[in-house]
Amino acid sequence: MNNKTYGHFDDAHREYVITDPQTPWPWINYLGNEDFFSLISNTAGGYSFFKDAKFRRITRYRYNGVPMDNGGRYFYIVEERGESKEERIVWNPGWKPCKTPLDSYECRHGMSYTRITGQKNSVEASVLFFVPLKKWCEVQKVTLKNLSNETKQLKLFSFAEWCLWNAATDMENFQRNFSTGEVEIDGSVIYHKTEYKERRNHYAYYSVNTPIQGFDTDRESFVGLYNEFDNPDAVMEGRPRNSVAHGWSPIASHYIEVELKPGEQKDFIFLLGYVEQPQEEKYAPKTPGLITSLGDLDRTFINKVRAQQTIAEFDTVEKVDKAFAELAAFWDDLLDRYTAKTGNEALDRMVNIWNQYQCMVTFNFSRSASFFESGVGRGMGFRDSNQDLVGFVHQIPSRARERIIDIASTQFPDGGCYHQYQPLTKRGNNDIGGGFNDDPCWLIFGTVAYIKETGDFSILDEMVPFDNQPGSEVTLFDHLRISFNHVVENLGPHKLPLIGRADWNDCLNLNCFSWDPNESFQTTENNSVGSKAESLMIAGLFVVTGKQYVELCQQIGKGVEAQRAQKEIDSMIEAVKQHGWDGEWYLRAYDFYGNKIGSNECEEGKIFIESQGWCGMAGIGQEEGMVDRALDSCKKYLDSEHGMVLNNPAFTTYHVEMGEISSYPAGYKENAGIFCHNNPWVIIADTVAARGNDAWELYQKISPVFIKDQTLHKVEPYVNCQMVAGKDAARPGEGKNSWLTGTAAWMWLTASQYILGIKPAYDGLLIDPCVPQTAKEYTVKRKFRGGEYLITIRNPKGVQKGVSSIIFDGQPLQGNVVPAAEGSHTVEVTMG
Ligand code: BGC
Ligand code: NOJ
Repeated sequence: MNNKTYGHFDDAHREYVITDPQTPWPWINYLGNEDFFSLISNTAGGYSFFKDAKFRRITRYRYNGVPMDNGGRYFYIVEERGESKEERIVWNPGWKPCKTPLDSYECRHGMSYTRITGQKNSVEASVLFFVPLKKWCEVQKVTLKNLSNETKQLKLFSFAEWCLWNAATDMENFQRNFSTGEVEIDGSVIYHKTEYKERRNHYAYYSVNTPIQGFDTDRESFVGLYNEFDNPDAVMEGRPRNSVAHGWSPIASHYIEVELKPGEQKDFIFLLGYVEQPQEEKYAPKTPGLITSLGDLDRTFINKVRAQQTIAEFDTVEKVDKAFAELAAFWDDLLDRYTAKTGNEALDRMVNIWNQYQCMVTFNFSRSASFFESGVGRGMGFRDSNQDLVGFVHQIPSRARERIIDIASTQFPDGGCYHQYQPLTKRGNNDIGGGFNDDPCWLIFGTVAYIKETGDFSILDEMVPFDNQPGSEVTLFDHLRISFNHVVENLGPHKLPLIGRADWNDCLNLNCFSWDPNESFQTTENNSVGSKAESLMIAGLFVVTGKQYVELCQQIGKGVEAQRAQKEIDSMIEAVKQHGWDGEWYLRAYDFYGNKIGSNECEEGKIFIESQGWCGMAGIGQEEGMVDRALDSCKKYLDSEHGMVLNNPAFTTYHVEMGEISSYPAGYKENAGIFCHNNPWVIIADTVAARGNDAWELYQKISPVFIKDQTLHKVEPYVNCQMVAGKDAARPGEGKNSWLTGTAAWMWLTASQYILGIKPAYDGLLIDPCVPQTAKEYTVKRKFRGGEYLITIRNPKGVQKGVSSIIFDGQPLQGNVVPAAEGSHTVEVTMG
């Protein structure tokens, strides 16, 4: 094992502190909570966008570049100690891009902010990056400090490169792009206005709150055609070109000369902002106030009023510090809704800080923009967003509510739905279409979680269209009914759910027989007529979400519908027992021909994790011992040092009848990778079967905060990644695809509801912990529907599950649902 670490947690400040810029992969953070967002790496790489990483990309970023993580918001500091080139030190506080060795370096990733501090030759440069609440800009507060005894003359160059708005065409349509770029420079503000004169009503700007001594807006002039970001001409010569971009690649760079006396400190506030305005306000009048016809507008210059207003809101350190304090208060409030004190520092850190933080990020971005998701491919996923909101709903329920309506609006009248939609337009994405048969179930899952958290049944009466078509509206409850029915109406020969294009496992494509490498597995469905392909994962998911639907119907007085639905669930349970059990575990699927997948009869891929997780969570065949046997098999065949792999043995050859899954080399991604997302399903199934020791053991393997070998793990140690290379891979334990994964929400559910055992229910909080025998006592402070509960759980007999008594506000409680009530409450729980 490699013991090298690249940083450490600072829990008091809720930060991860990176102390070595050369992390094994860029370790990033997200800025912004609504509308304006940025990605920022530990060396200040990354980019910004407004709402939609594809359609409103503000700054340019090149994925998979050489070197890695190329492009960002860079500050170059030039210190000239003499006339010659040799006497010039050029460096960046974040080490990149110059990579000049620093005397010290630190990057603190916190809750929606990042602070990068570097020191060189007795100058300290610290940059605080954040997006103020509700504002459309990234603030960059640069603090320069002279730590020496002599006066320092410094030159500060800022740098950002504009993206021509559509991140996809920005990377491909150069015959046009090289002619469209346009900018304006006005004092210390550089405006980016490409395509503004035509249909766009938005522009971006980069400002600084001090007079500048020069600027650049044309990349070639600033960098030099054959240079790189680490040696731009203007910086290396300490001389801006005052270039004005016409086409090619517009950038924004300010040039500021700074004198610092011994011990002196100066702050500069840079703002990278975005403005959108009504078409009729795109231009300012030629004469102030006078507009009687369009001819009165001055079309040479954009209307800068909105930008100037925002700039004025952040033009002093006091104003910026105030906005930063508001952001901190926002996070204090969010994270105060659930706090556990378990005596295990790492668990507390995961539950109280980083897991909840990641849940906000996955809620915001679904699978769109990370350092593994380019922001152009995928918008918001139907199944992904429903799962994400379950990890977030306790934070800002109103946003979860809005999201549910947006998602449901992309459903079709038959219950099917678009698999993805664009956040900007909220329209279903035609490129990928629909036909993923697990999708509808997740709408029930998301909506029920929202109602249980809030008690707000009124969401069920919201009128929600199909495919965003005005006039097609039915109630959200009707959407849930047709979601439930979509499974019932699409059963195969064993009365199990037809899989469609794929279920949760996007790569188990049983109706796509592709021999053409130019075809996408995700969209090719060339063999579905007469298909017998059925999914045991959907069967389990249907039983879990179907039961949720039944309970919901009972709550709202729809007893007849509840009975009807229950019958369908009972039949599904029977079908699984009869046709979905392989002897030691649940089958995974039946293929196009009706052959078994995930059976002991198969040569490869004998056992899959998803059906064990879902049929286990559903408790199918629990009395007959199926759940326990399946969980034992998971331990035996799927488990490893780093977590459970998706399937075993891995596929070593291409199986055309299975699709993308067998396209991956053994041990990666959906082919026997440790696909973190589905490990919590097994953990929850463990809790259903009262196996607290097993649940805890697997939880630790999947939690990033317990990672020991940071070099091997490669990606951020403070958030979950989608996949860790499995036992069949070349480097088991190597993580990939960090941040945007359903793992975040599932780890949250697992820890908060199933292990620590505080579950929102219709009438209150259901207390049902399942812990390792060694757990003695812990407390959880939970805010819920206007009440604040201080819950202490004691386990004197060292059991794994089972509550023997609950004292609620000093009185013994019947059952284990603590009633929802405003005010402060104490709950004393004894297990045993
Ligand atoms: C990946 C999946 C992903 C899918 C959709 C596949 O290549 O393996 O994890 O969900 O693409 O983009
Ligand atoms: C990632 C996708 O976002 C998710 O929807 C899918 O379930 C998993 N990959 C597994 O294939």
